[in-house]
Formats: sequence, structure tokens, C-alpha cells
Amino acid sequence: MSLETGIHSLASRLRSATRVTVLTGAGISAASGIPTFRGPDGLWKSFRVEELATAQAFARDPRTVWEWYDWRRQIISRALPNRAHEILASWSRRFARFTLITQNVDGLHERAGTANVIRFHGSIWELSCWSRCGRSSWRDDEAPLPQLPPRCPDCGGMARPAVVWFGERLDLDVTRRAMAAVECDVCLVVGTSSVVYPAAGLAAEAARRGAFTAEINPEPGARGVDLAIAARAEKALDEIDRMLG
Ligand code: OAD
Repeated sequence: MSLETGIHSLASRLRSATRVTVLTGAGISAASGIPTFRGPDGLWKSFRVEELATAQAFARDPRTVWEWYDWRRQIISRALPNRAHEILASWSRRFARFTLITQNVDGLHERAGTANVIRFHGSIWELSCWSRCGRSSWRDDEAPLPQLPPRCPDCGGMARPAVVWFGERLDLDVTRRAMAAVECDVCLVVGTSSVVYPAAGLAAEAARRGAFTAEINPEPGARGVDLAIAARAEKALDEIDRMLG
């Protein structure tokens, strides 16, 4: 199927949809200048997951882990939402029931004004107490942070980024909301390599429940979707949005 036919086909599905769920990954923020994790220039080419994105790594060397997060926070703080974020924000008001599930921790969907965002992997702008003193997570927008590692304001112990690391369980409420959202007419997967579970299984679950599933990614990777559009998110979404009028 040509790119144009694919775009037409998705636009026509969306025209008759009322329940739309979009799952995004790092690729949607690529046009904002935020590095993705995988691929030729991906972060995991230069850094090792086990040294930076696990609780074990943090326990071993919290300063190094924090330096990496602080560096990413600085990049993100200078970035702006791109056309893809803006279109999805407008769709969150267009459709009767719209849910955006994102694996991204950058907060760009929220900055674009998207309603009903489920942050699957937490937020890089939130911190929590490493020793779980009882304080709930808190927001801190300062980049760079004045002190590494930052401290818990209640107990004075170390703070950690309130993101989901490899090997950690997702928040139960987040999982419950995501499972409810895959009950939809159209499930669109944008800018993710679809290798990290459980996020990578959401489109298949939506398909099982009867949704039309589609992917937008220059290098499509989601398994078993009805339609794969091999294009950059900011370009494909712009064309689809123009067709929706
Ligand atoms: P990845 O870096 O694995 O995948 C990014 C995807 O975006 C790739 O498939 C690219 O082809 C695609 N891409 C690149 N530019 C694009 C563009 N302009 N438009 C659309 N797609 C584009 O990122 P994720 O799938 O989000 O987890 O990674 C999943 C998780 O792995 C992350 O949430 C993070 C990471 O390790 C944790 O930190 C727990």
C-alpha cells in the first residue's frame, strides 16, 4: 500500500471513530530534538541500560545516574512540542473519547495541551524519595539541578527520578487506565520501537477487543497492526489532520 493510500485509509477510519487511543514513544519527540533510545543515534548506543536505568544502577552509583537524568532534563527543558504533539493535543478535544498513552517521560504532550494523558513510564520532572519515607512524588522543574543527587524535602534522604526503570512494576492505576483505554475504535501507535513490554502489547490487546490498529513510524516495528504508515510522525499526522479538516 502506498504512503498516500495508508494516510487516506487512516483518516477515513478516524472520521467515523469516537473512541481513539494513541500510544506514543520517543520517536514523536525526535523532531523536538530529543534523542530516541534505539536506532543509529539512539541513547542506548552510547549508554548501557543496566548502568543508568535500573534501581540496581542507582543503588551502586546514584551520582552517575543523576548526571545522566540531569543532562536529559536540560535537553528537554530547551525543547518545544512539535507539530505531532500539537495535532494530538487538538485531537484530544476533537474526539468524544480520546486517550493518549505515552512511554515518554519528557512531558511534551502535556506542554502541548493534550487532555487525558497516561504517563506509562512516569515523568522526568517528578522526583520521589529513594528510601520511601512516605512522601508522595513531587515536581521539580529546575534544570540543571543545583545539587546531585537531589534530596527528599521531608526526610533529607536521596531523591530519585520518578520514572519507571527496567525491572520495576508499573503503577497499578496506570495499568488499569491503559487497559480501559485499549477498548477503542482506533488504536494508533506512533514513534515507538515496540520492544518494551507491557507498552508494546497494548496495540495487540486493542486489536483483540475489535479496534482498528495502525502505526506511524519511518521504520515500522509493531506486530500485527492493520496498517503501517512508514513516515515521520510530524509529517504523517499533519497530512491526516488536514484530511480530517
Ligand atoms: P525507541 O528509541 O526504542 O524507539 C523510537 C522509535 O521512533 C523507533 O522505532 C524509530 O524508528 C521511531 N522514530 C524516529 N523518528 C521518528 C519520527 N520523526 N516519527 C515517528 N517515529 C520516529 O523509543 P521507545 O519505543 O519509546 O523506557 O522506547 C521504549 C522505552 O525504552 C522507553 O520508554 C524507555 C526506553 O528504554 C524506560 O526508560 C523504561
